Amino acid sequence: MTALFDPFVLKGVTLKNRIAVSPMCQYSAIDGVVNDWHYAHLAGLARGGSALVIVEATGVSGEGRITPGCVGLWNDRQSEALRKAVELIRAAGAVPGIQIAHAGRKASANRPWEGDDHIPEEDPRAWQPIAPSAIAYGGGLARVPREMALEDIVRVTGEFVAAAERARDIGFEWLELHFAHGYLGQNFLSPHSNHRSDLYGGSLSNRSRFLNEILSAVRAVWPDHLPLTARMGVIEYDDREETLEESVAVIREFKLRGLDLIDVSLGFSTPDAEIPFGPNFMASIAGHIRREADIPTATSWYISEPDEANALVRDHQVDLVMLARALLENHHWPYAAARALGVSRPAWTLPPAYAHWLERYRSATPGFR
Ligand SMILES: Cc1cc2nc3c(=O)[nH]c(=O)nc-3n(C[C@H](O)[C@H](O)[C@H](O)COP(=O)(O)O)c2cc1C
Repeated sequence: MTALFDPFVLKGVTLKNRIAVSPMCQYSAIDGVVNDWHYAHLAGLARGGSALVIVEATGVSGEGRITPGCVGLWNDRQSEALRKAVELIRAAGAVPGIQIAHAGRKASANRPWEGDDHIPEEDPRAWQPIAPSAIAYGGGLARVPREMALEDIVRVTGEFVAAAERARDIGFEWLELHFAHGYLGQNFLSPHSNHRSDLYGGSLSNRSRFLNEILSAVRAVWPDHLPLTARMGVIEYDDREETLEESVAVIREFKLRGLDLIDVSLGFSTPDAEIPFGPNFMASIAGHIRREADIPTATSWYISEPDEANALVRDHQVDLVMLARALLENHHWPYAAARALGVSRPAWTLPPAYAHWLERYRSATPGFR
């Protein structure tokens, strides 16, 4: 076996390999309800051989969606429609996971292919975004959010808990809290978006208070035997060099509160960041977090080559690779990777109904690979 195809056990869940489908918004839901497109998308990805499929950023409330097309998990219709996604992912051979989210000051936006900017305030599809402070992100996301009162903080924490309970009740086995990418959790952490002078702003322990409260409240309802994870923007690539070390401290606290794995990502708190996008560029950052915070770690961003993905796991930079675009291009990337890495019987990356035939033709035909 190569490292990438070693099983990974986290709490009571065993992943068959180290490849996860990173959450990917489809902007295709109506009233937050998933439909046939989501089923085709998720089942296809699950059938492709990844061990874990994490459903896209799912709003804990209507206000928490990024766009009107984002999935939600705050009512029974949404729960029941997602239950079928859980069943399809499992039937296609993967563990079903979900990312729950509140978009904060980036909420009420147009779909990426329709502008990726805020919907104009006077448009009936728009709603009022909320955030720790009344500071707009900038660029096309210029709408000024309403500063959250303490009641809002309590309410949104409760919404995360209610969404986690729904996720648990419909059979998800892996929960990811979205604390990255300039959405609400990240808005509290980042001095770019948090100028509060109460208990939720200022020092690092104050800026991380809301996240810690959500995490503890969700842990109390999310089963002990199932992984509770978070995606966090650990670095911004702005002029605040202390962000990475602050992130280590925050993740250590998360771990004490019951976090099982951290999905290392980018902050996206300012449009002025200069991010050095390139192959595997987050790998050394993830390795640093894994060592310093001493917690199972995943990362994504520009991972596309099997040998590089394998090296990330083999060299202990991550426990799990989260792929997005490589899997959009080829849902069967894990099978192709298994072949490229010389895994014996690579077809068994796939569910048996495919694997049996691929394996049979391969072994029956000398020289055929
Ligand atoms: C279509 C698409 C939708 C995405 N939606 C989400 C999302 O819902 N939640 C999230 O945390 N990241 C989202 N991302 C980011 C990916 O999960 C991933 O971290 C990023 O694309 C980098 O991985 P890659 O280089 O393999 O694409 C999205 C990316 C794509 C391409």
